[in-house]
Amino acid sequence: MNLLVTGGAGFIGSNFVLYWLKKYPEDMLVNLDKLTYAGNPENLKSVENNPNYKFVKGDICDAKLVNKLMKDESIDVVVHFAAESHVDRSILDPSPFIKTNIVGTYTLLEAALKNKIKRFHHISTDEVFGSLSLDSKEKFNEKTPYNPRSPYAASKASADHLVRAYYQTYNLPVTISNCSNNFGPYHFPEKLIPLAITNILEGKKVPIYGDGLYVRDWLFVEDHCTAIDAIIHKGRTGETYLIGGMTEEISNIDIVRKILNIIGKDESQIEFVKDRPGHDRKYSVDWSKINKELGWHPKHDFDEALKLTVEWYVKNQEWWKKIKTGEYLNYYKRQYNR
Ligand code: NAD
Ligand code: TYD
Repeated sequence: MNLLVTGGAGFIGSNFVLYWLKKYPEDMLVNLDKLTYAGNPENLKSVENNPNYKFVKGDICDAKLVNKLMKDESIDVVVHFAAESHVDRSILDPSPFIKTNIVGTYTLLEAALKNKIKRFHHISTDEVFGSLSLDSKEKFNEKTPYNPRSPYAASKASADHLVRAYYQTYNLPVTISNCSNNFGPYHFPEKLIPLAITNILEGKKVPIYGDGLYVRDWLFVEDHCTAIDAIIHKGRTGETYLIGGMTEEISNIDIVRKILNIIGKDESQIEFVKDRPGHDRKYSVDWSKINKELGWHPKHDFDEALKLTVEWYVKNQEWWKKIKTGEYLNYYKRQYNR
């Protein structure tokens, strides 16, 4: 099978590329990535010389390039990760989110149709469903109406609608997965868990928005990769699958406490800061459809996976210290005024 992975130099994409090449060494994989601030070729150093892997630096909004790639590389399956992915950056400036997440997805869909791609798998987020209240027992499922509340979530929701429209209107064989917050190795240190780990290791404070009692449904990135694998091999076209983790309802502040505890530091490194505008209170995902239809379930216990993740950041300080310079520091100052 020949795969075109978009955004394969980012956090989840690079975990997926490494996972796929190891599990399916006979497949060909082309990784198209623009290498924005979030893309990092270092993540893929170990496969650079693999003859079945090819990296192409480019933009998913470039119709000529994506058409040529799908044609010349005889692509069977597109796995579409490329996106602007950080809610806080979408609040500071929505424009690249509209371009990459909406126009980029449209450009790929057009090329997929033209090149008779056998499967277009689109990676989306549970954030398209909006926010649950803290006392709600409800979980998002495949029938939950869309109610995105940040420019990021709205751009991902738009992309999801386009992907479904290409299935309904043109019979493009698509699948969609909406997953919860991932964590694990190669996670860019602007997101809560890697930001907390690296700030603690640097002796800095961890900024907690508002009261810190916000809840996410944390999914270890390796479990996400196995879910996408199951959908590509066994999923039904035209279908959406929700993917979630194994957490009990755990708040942001409790996650940071757990990380402090693993590293052996105290709570003086926690700092409450101004809340994010329109901050979604809670996400919770019902993953029973993918479990019943495809036999998938998350394998990693949250505490165990968090410990593995902290250990990875302790061992790979060079990786994140290189990132926490230049553009990152400008962003940090703009976002946190620190
Ligand atoms: P990331 O920000 O770490 O990586 C995004 C990658 O896409 C980067 O390598 C970047 O260079 C590339 N990219 C950005 N714009 C591009 C463009 N125009 N053309 C080509 N490449 C481009 O993101 P991530 O956390 O790995 O997320 C991957 C996907 O999963 C996204 O679609 C995101 O919406 C979705 N998702 C992420 C999470 C999460 O917790 N991280 C949760 C749910 C869904
Ligand atoms: P984040 O990792 O940005 O993911 P998302 O917004 O896509 O869920 O944030 C996870 C949670 O952590 C969210 O409730 C916002 C909160 N948060 C903080 O409290 N402080 C921070 O510095 C960041 C980045 C996030």
